[in-house]
Amino acid sequence: MKQDFVRKIEGYDEIVRERAICRKYGLDYSTEGGKIRSFINRLHPPRLMLRVSDVIDETPSSKTLRLVSPEGYLPPFQAGKYISIIADIGPIRTSRPYSISSPPNQRGYYDITIRNRENGFVAPHLLNRIKAGNRIEASAPSGGFCFNPLIHDRASVFIAGGSGITPFMSMIREVVECGIDRTICLFYGNRSDADVIFHDELLRISQRFRQVTYVPVIETPSPGYTGARGYITGDIIKGVVGQTGGRTYYLCGPPAMYDFCLPELEGLSIPRHKIRREVYGPPPDITRSPGWPSHIGRDAAFTVGIRGRGEIGARAGESLLNSLERSGIVVPALCRSGECSMCRVKLISGRVFQPAGVLLRKSDRQFGYIHSCAAYPLEDLEIMF
Ligand code: FES
Repeated sequence: MKQDFVRKIEGYDEIVRERAICRKYGLDYSTEGGKIRSFINRLHPPRLMLRVSDVIDETPSSKTLRLVSPEGYLPPFQAGKYISIIADIGPIRTSRPYSISSPPNQRGYYDITIRNRENGFVAPHLLNRIKAGNRIEASAPSGGFCFNPLIHDRASVFIAGGSGITPFMSMIREVVECGIDRTICLFYGNRSDADVIFHDELLRISQRFRQVTYVPVIETPSPGYTGARGYITGDIIKGVVGQTGGRTYYLCGPPAMYDFCLPELEGLSIPRHKIRREVYGPPPDITRSPGWPSHIGRDAAFTVGIRGRGEIGARAGESLLNSLERSGIVVPALCRSGECSMCRVKLISGRVFQPAGVLLRKSDRQFGYIHSCAAYPLEDLEIMF
């Protein structure tokens, strides 16, 4: 049936004939394919070598690294995408995804804005060690947290927490700089006023462009603060946007923000298909996730046998990907949140915990593959990759 369909494609017979001639006379019939491949590689190169041109202080705990290409070419991207920064820290080679905060119409550089995290590993390295002039290795722009005019409403509600503002900054800058017909209402939650990244710019934009509304929401504000306080509640959202229907809701922030805001949006009767959320790394303590077996502590130690490559130690509270990297084993990774499938490994034996929401392809599930960035050992394992 499928074969019949393929044969009906225009040009099918000519391609088959051409391939037969090439095979017979030893020609490289992939020459044409090679041209396409090199074009695709230019748009989606497997790796980028970038140079830090500037380091911009944003708040006491966050900085923007402005990254340029020594060759003068950066692949285009859609606002909302991230690049995965590869870092060599001591003997460990690892990576972290950072959303691009500059707009896609700015083709001269990518900005990534990084906030220091308690117990962070890569963020402190980038914030404290990386200086203007340093080289950085990165992936090409990736991810699916983008506006799609065919599917999404032109009226958007953005809900950001902490450094989760970065993809929204790219979208907002693009909308106002390119005069795109979209209405945006941004709710931006932070612990204190000092933590708000891009505050002055957001204020300026919202005063100048009527289509952008900016509502900072501060958990513990300083004396004299007169804006919204506490968390981003359904009441705060409804009080600003009024009519909550006919809008697409975008969320980007720490896992605790999703735990709070998703029920609030449900309380406003926002259908799930109108809510888009960016993946935002693993939870700070996986053992507190729903469904975690309470008899296994986060420091429980296991061994992981890697077929043909020996054995490593792993802890229950640490993702398999981190344990592999800690042992000097490099696994390709992009999102580190169980979404992109780059880090998948085959689980031959043993049990792992996979938090709810991890998107495994049906075929991966069927053939025993797991995402090592979102899999936590619950006993000794054997894997293969
Ligand atoms: S790195 Fe994307 S699924 Fe693991």
